[in-house]
Amino acid sequence: MLEQLEIIEKEALTALEEVGDIDSLGQWKVKYLGRSSDLMGTFDNLRDLPKDERPAVGRGANQVKQRLEAEYEGKSEHLRRLAVSRSLEKERLDVTLPGRPFPRGRLHPITQTMREIYAIFAEMGFQVYLSREVETDEFNFQLLNFPPHHPAREMQDSFYVESGTDRGQNPVLLRTHTSPGQIHAMREYAAMDPENPPPVRIILPGMCFRYEQVTARSEMQFNQIEGLAVGTDITMGDLKGTLSDFARRLFGQQVRSRFRASHFPFTEPSAEMDIECFVCGGEGCAVCKRTGWLEILGCGMVHPIVLQNGGYDPQKYTGYAFGMGPERITMLRHRIEDIRYFWSNDLRFLEQF
Ligand code: PHE
Repeated sequence: MLEQLEIIEKEALTALEEVGDIDSLGQWKVKYLGRSSDLMGTFDNLRDLPKDERPAVGRGANQVKQRLEAEYEGKSEHLRRLAVSRSLEKERLDVTLPGRPFPRGRLHPITQTMREIYAIFAEMGFQVYLSREVETDEFNFQLLNFPPHHPAREMQDSFYVESGTDRGQNPVLLRTHTSPGQIHAMREYAAMDPENPPPVRIILPGMCFRYEQVTARSEMQFNQIEGLAVGTDITMGDLKGTLSDFARRLFGQQVRSRFRASHFPFTEPSAEMDIECFVCGGEGCAVCKRTGWLEILGCGMVHPIVLQNGGYDPQKYTGYAFGMGPERITMLRHRIEDIRYFWSNDLRFLEQF
């Protein structure tokens, strides 16, 4: 009987050496240690043996069982390690390869400039008011005090959506500036309380369209940011203070600004604001065309007729308005020499910002 056990053990160990994977190890376990294995049969048959042989055979069978179990564990551990190292080998990476660049999106340079400008005016208490891009002649010109044959209308050659003959003197067009939004906003505010219209402090950003030759300096489509403040006791001093502060916040605390008299039909008096050229510090260079100054925006006190058209009594209310071009400001800040880059969708340009 003991010899029998020795044979079982030898056979099992030889078979175990042949085992090369987890599956056949499982089969091996069933065959040599399972319920119906020869070894387990030995335990069942113990009681058929003569009494004096039983202890030795029982002990022997137990030793073989322990040995096989230990070998099984060892083999199992070995196979697990082997599997891991094989899969590492298969999925081997070359850690010396350069990483793949991670493409990152970004905001368009104009969007970046506009958001900076919104943030500056937001700190000063201005809200953003979005007005329509498709306008009527009435809002784009008439209510802003451009009479029908005013020469300023020639200045802004317009894209007409519907011809004037279809709509009398009020054709539909793409807005040539953000100023018509002043009227929409004032009327909306005034409607809240027509007797006592609330104060207005807004900026109006958006696209404008002019039917003109596209060149390095002018596009037919561009943004403007309009500003409007209406209330009691608003003076030209408020206009100057607000806009000089704005210039310092956008271009740097040291930057100086100046106001030059100008003309717009919808403001009186009207001005243009220049800032000291930040390229040459005012000495005169190619960017400022040797003047030392850069024109940044148009502005003025809201014309009484415009206040009236917006529903604000010009006897009681005053206001100021301004309008600037974020494309121009972006070009000056980054010394971009051609406005057409903004619309050319050339990644070599856009990725610089
Ligand atoms: N609308 C003017 C333009 O397009 C700019 C402007 C706005 C001037 C508000 C004064 C006040 O040039």
